Amino acid sequence: MIKVMVPATSANLGPGFDFLGLALDLYNTVSFAPADEWHVTAEGYGAQGLTGRSDLLVCKALKRVFAETGKELKGGIVHMENHIPPAGGLGTSAAAIVGGLAAANQYLGEPLCSDDLLALAVEIEGHPDNVAPAVFGGLVGVVKASSPPYTYLKIPFPSELYVVLAVPDLRVSTTEARKLLPEAVPLAEAVFNLSRTGLLVGACYAGRLDLFRLAMEDALHQNRRAALIPGFHRVVTAAYQEGALGVALSGAGPTVIAFAPKTKLKAVGAGMVAVFNEQGIEAQWLSVAVNLDGFRFV
Ligand code: HSE
Repeated sequence: MIKVMVPATSANLGPGFDFLGLALDLYNTVSFAPADEWHVTAEGYGAQGLTGRSDLLVCKALKRVFAETGKELKGGIVHMENHIPPAGGLGTSAAAIVGGLAAANQYLGEPLCSDDLLALAVEIEGHPDNVAPAVFGGLVGVVKASSPPYTYLKIPFPSELYVVLAVPDLRVSTTEARKLLPEAVPLAEAVFNLSRTGLLVGACYAGRLDLFRLAMEDALHQNRRAALIPGFHRVVTAAYQEGALGVALSGAGPTVIAFAPKTKLKAVGAGMVAVFNEQGIEAQWLSVAVNLDGFRFV
């Protein structure tokens, strides 16, 4: 069996809507060997709903690599170990897709390069900022271009910053969260985000943690999506009060991501969870490191 570990990702980082994503040291795994029929099993989050199915994103991704290289995959033995909370905002779809693509590519002797895997992952998942960090690791900015279809840049993420995730017991569908966003936005909102995105990328290169709070602000999606996440703004305020240096909605939510120095992780996590609990919503917090290298075979 080929076995691959794929990191969780936090897309839309701060003002970087549809552009910036961060890979996290938290993994789902995909094990794969081809077979005449599908035998899909899972453990961890969502295992019951996944076992025995052949219509999963991971199967689609496995088949896609075979088709891309002129081969047919009839079925496969697939096993998933899911450690990424599935509430939303941590790239579980991206992990399944990148896991399937990477496993099939490895099985076939690596006919596809990582740029090809990125293009196929976006074709299936739809959001480059979700999948690119799972492929390449670290903080990644990804731009839709023409040839190659996606151009990416790995941006150094300050090693002094640790990640705290607040994961509420809510489900937010990315499709529904996307519907809350308008087709067009006022020029002032566009300028707000593009100036802060520039500042955030510059702050990462310059190690200017003092700029992070301003640089993490967003005017494009968070206010509009907050309607799906009771207490969102107060969760952000609580994280800053407890010493966070930057806070944002993770992906399309409902997970909230905060950056903090090591000494503040517990206070920031507990502060965010307390606000969700005040809203009558169960929540957990976890502190994770940044994944620097993307998926890896084990
Ligand atoms: N950039 C995408 C969105 C990420 O916000 O819709 C989805 O996880």
